[in-house]
Amino acid sequence: MAKLVKLSPIDRETSVKTNDNLLSALLKNELSVLQECNGRGMCSTCHVYIKEGIESLSPLNRREQRALEIITTCQLNSRLACQARVLGEGVVVELPPGMYVNAIEDIEDLIGRRAQQNILHPLNGQILVEEGKLITRTVVNQLKEIRVKVEEYLAKTANA
Ligand code: FES
Repeated sequence: MAKLVKLSPIDRETSVKTNDNLLSALLKNELSVLQECNGRGMCSTCHVYIKEGIESLSPLNRREQRALEIITTCQLNSRLACQARVLGEGVVVELPPGMYVNAIEDIEDLIGRRAQQNILHPLNGQILVEEGKLITRTVVNQLKEIRVKVEEYLAKTANA
């Protein structure tokens, strides 16, 4: 049976099959979720806040718990959309603001611009560049290094 989930950022209700994860609800509604680890519960790019109905989701599993522990913007109502399955009604989801560094196609293009929104680390959600801040070559080099390290980490843990 389907359950209704409210997506707070776009003020829309969507139906999800019971036991499907929240990620499917987000993607079905064209909300951009990077899914850097391909839904393995090892990154922060599908991190969401549950504004209401957290009790209608499947309980935290160990992997999700570990990933949430390193997300700097984690709150008591945080979940990973790829791990949280919808079991009941009344779930309201909110996405953390900002974009993940691994989602930026051409990092070089950012030099000399101001960040349009917070740029976030894809594993721990840390703000790497605050919205409105000028992006210098040094910052771009740091972002590139982070991107490479994250890709290496996720490739290493691909079979974990
Ligand atoms: S997509 Fe990486 S934790 Fe959900």
